[in-house]
Amino acid sequence: MNHQPVEGFSKLSKQRKIDWLITEYLSNDRSYEQILQQYWNNDSNLQKMHDEFSENTISNFYMPYGIAPNFLIDGKLLALPMAVEESSVVAAASKAAKFWIDKGGFKTTIINTEKLGHTHFIFKTEAHKLLHFFNFKLKKKLLEATEDITKNMRNRGGGILNIKLIDKTAELEDYFQLKASFDTVDSMGANFINSCLEQFGKTLKEEVAKEESFSQEEKDSLQIVMNILSNYTPDCIVRAEVSCKIEDLKDDSGISNEEFAWKFKRAVTIAEIEPYRATTHNKGIMNGVDAVVIATGNDFRATEACAHAYAARNGKYSSLTHCTTDNGIFRFWIDLPISVGVVGGLTNLHPLVKFSLALLGKPSAQELMSILAVSGLAQNFGALRSLVTTGIQKGHMKMHLFNILNQFGATEEEKQHFVTYFKDKTVSHHEVISELEKLRNK
Ligand code: MEV
Repeated sequence: MNHQPVEGFSKLSKQRKIDWLITEYLSNDRSYEQILQQYWNNDSNLQKMHDEFSENTISNFYMPYGIAPNFLIDGKLLALPMAVEESSVVAAASKAAKFWIDKGGFKTTIINTEKLGHTHFIFKTEAHKLLHFFNFKLKKKLLEATEDITKNMRNRGGGILNIKLIDKTAELEDYFQLKASFDTVDSMGANFINSCLEQFGKTLKEEVAKEESFSQEEKDSLQIVMNILSNYTPDCIVRAEVSCKIEDLKDDSGISNEEFAWKFKRAVTIAEIEPYRATTHNKGIMNGVDAVVIATGNDFRATEACAHAYAARNGKYSSLTHCTTDNGIFRFWIDLPISVGVVGGLTNLHPLVKFSLALLGKPSAQELMSILAVSGLAQNFGALRSLVTTGIQKGHMKMHLFNILNQFGATEEEKQHFVTYFKDKTVSHHEVISELEKLRNK
């Protein structure tokens, strides 16, 4: 069937939007409306708030919200809130947390908290002339022009840290940047940074127009291409680590501590040198990071983009975690660049985000960075521990069992049967189906 474009969809009421979708795309089958409605919230205020988080909303899309307890982080015992749909993530985090709780837990260090943004512009001029103008006039004007925007942030201890002129003409003809660094304290700071940058763009235009050292032709060539923060924040970075004596690395899978340490370190080295493995390895890390990022109302696309850009910073995609086993000590750590906030955005609005932050003891942005790095490190430890011992499927399929059973509409009684049936065996899709058939044909 050929569909027609729709005019003014965003202006239609929710009901009209649904009616249109059902007619246009769902063969007039009204049962689809039920699917959407069953996720509506009875509390109309809460529903309205969720509707207004986004555009053209017709329902809510639930994610499981779970807790991974027993995280000892810098001496504080925390229960981490995790919003994630993958069945084994919370279990793996909890298991890793428990493993490290009696070995001193996780230690973190904030290395830096600098955020970045750029005014990207094209200017047909000589770089040295522009640099002189920037150093002796423009920089001061840019700071003055943003004083109103930065006032509150400065009162909170943050603001613009520095502005540099960057000559990019070797890579793209006439391309320059104003590269600014910011301290956004407890907010992620996207709106603050973008507002400053847009003002930079305007001020740059105005000041160049007034500047006598530029010819009219040069002035006419100035084009502000865009003003935007960078989600790549290699200097907003936290380290999380665990360490213990190799002799204390007790693993219940039957391999010796030394063999476990040896295999574990090799697994990390493989991810350091082999991008195919590094991608999966880092994906596993981000399972832990993103789940807490989402639960605390932060932007997981930003954290993903930043982590992967950092993982490729040396020109070859590599592991975010590292491991050493020198002098009988097992040490495992992550350096995670991550920009998050605990004020602004969804943090003051979404009730579950408020719950998450309260559960974490109302952390500062820096404390949240530490928690996120720990969650990623724990997740990676859990994955590697399984991979180098029992294999990943044992734990993975155990958690996935209920998904398979739910697909076949299994009753509670049937589910109990399967929990016992697979107690000492690895779950496989094939075996669940054949055992279910046997059970039902009895
Ligand atoms: C699955 O979501 C993540 C893992 O593949 C990560 C890894 O292989 O390290 C288990």
